[in-house]
Amino acid sequence: MKRKDFIRNTGLATASLAVLPSFASRAETKVKAAIIGTGLRGQSHLDLLLRRDDVEVTAVCDVDSRMLTMAKELITKSGKKMPQVYTGDNYSWKKMLERERIDAMIIATPWEWHKPMIIGSLEMGIKYIGTEVMLGITLQDHWDVVKAAERYNAHVMMLENVCYRRDVMAVLNMVRQGLFGELIHLQGGYQHDLREVKFNDGVNSYGHGVEYGEKAFSEARWRTEHSVHRNGDLYPTHGIGPIAHYIHINRGNRFLTLNSFSSKARGLHNHIVKQGGKDHPNAKVNFKLGDVVTTHINCANGETILLQHDTNLPRPYSLGFRVQGTEGLWMDVNKGIYIEGKSAKAHQWDEAKAWLDKYDHPLWARWSKEAQGSGHGGMDFYVIHSFIESAKRKLPTQMDVYDAAAWSAITPLSEQSIELGNETVEFPDFTGGQWMYRKPVFALNDEY
Ligand SMILES: NC(=O)c1ccc[n+]([C@@H]2O[C@H](COP(=O)([O-])OP(=O)(O)OC[C@H]3O[C@@H](n4cnc5c(N)ncnc54)[C@H](O)[C@@H]3O)[C@@H](O)[C@H]2O)c1
Repeated sequence: MKRKDFIRNTGLATASLAVLPSFASRAETKVKAAIIGTGLRGQSHLDLLLRRDDVEVTAVCDVDSRMLTMAKELITKSGKKMPQVYTGDNYSWKKMLERERIDAMIIATPWEWHKPMIIGSLEMGIKYIGTEVMLGITLQDHWDVVKAAERYNAHVMMLENVCYRRDVMAVLNMVRQGLFGELIHLQGGYQHDLREVKFNDGVNSYGHGVEYGEKAFSEARWRTEHSVHRNGDLYPTHGIGPIAHYIHINRGNRFLTLNSFSSKARGLHNHIVKQGGKDHPNAKVNFKLGDVVTTHINCANGETILLQHDTNLPRPYSLGFRVQGTEGLWMDVNKGIYIEGKSAKAHQWDEAKAWLDKYDHPLWARWSKEAQGSGHGGMDFYVIHSFIESAKRKLPTQMDVYDAAAWSAITPLSEQSIELGNETVEFPDFTGGQWMYRKPVFALNDEY
């Protein structure tokens, strides 16, 4: 589809023009980018930055020498100039902030470090901050980041890559063209068997052992501890990000209330016993995180959302999307679409593929060659592309701090609901009432 038609069909022409770049003012200078956290995710972002001619990676920071060695190898292989490397202790990033001129910061550290690193970067005048998923731990953390972004008039974007998945974006295109009618109910989540991510042998990042914490490598070093001490939807943003775009959360709609239910916890303990034996010290650990956590959310415009967090049991990967409206629905598990009056047969699923190909989003139509080979089926290219293009054009990021806060706050709210015996809890309005006036800005054309 041509860009002009896409804009006309989405009915969002005015809003879209607001995000089109002014070519005359587009800066030709390179974006000076830095990364805190060159672990496995940070290296994937680094690789994408190194591929771009409009970015200069000026500094990187990590505390782990093995991870830094891997990052340096990537840089050497790219033929680009070696950036300044900051390491030594957990606060070396502060030295980096003091010494470097940075336009765009990427944060890919453990969740508990995101808030201090975002706020630290804002305090040093950085205007573009792309943080990996989860904005903070507590609800107050989320407020603190929102208020800091407002105070420093800066852009904090959560690097939520699933918003750019090809089928997710084709469905966004279909939603905007009204194929599903008025949206009524949405589902999604994080249904990913992470047992071999939460435990390893300290050498491999995936499987091969049942250690976590100090003795482990990569995510098992820190992420597993959250399963020991917390019970809630610990990773909601891959599911909720796309859904939020479909129903204009923070842009004419908002989350109102939430409740969560948690099942018993068996999966992680069973995995340790099966792989490490019943006498392994970790077999004594009590995991607080229920194996399946189910969250319901109610929205101002009357839609309901169901999210599931399911990371401890054997299962094939699926985010479990369902987008259902008055005219039909998409479900990703069965790869099916049904549109009343348009599908081949009444009451029978069409294969989603033909629909998704037909409504391929203009961003994918334009950039899929560049996205080839980047992580998670290409979607990682788009999230970095969008972040860097915003910084280059000095425009607001298309996913902002209010989106990040609303999506990520699901975690502390679901913990609270479970703690209170599945009570329904209220969602804070991080926008301070602005959700009523803000317009959709995400992926309205084929630019970024
Ligand atoms: N969007 C996605 O698809 C996706 C995929 C994987 C991970 N993630 C997210 O990315 C983030 C990082 O995950 P990861 O898989 O790279 O984990 P990782 O453990 O491989 O990397 C984290 C890195 O942060 C470093 N670090 C920890 N404390 C630090 C400090 N104080 N200063 C500097 N560096 C510090 C660690 O040494 C490590 O190298 C998390 O938020 C995770 O949820 C997102």
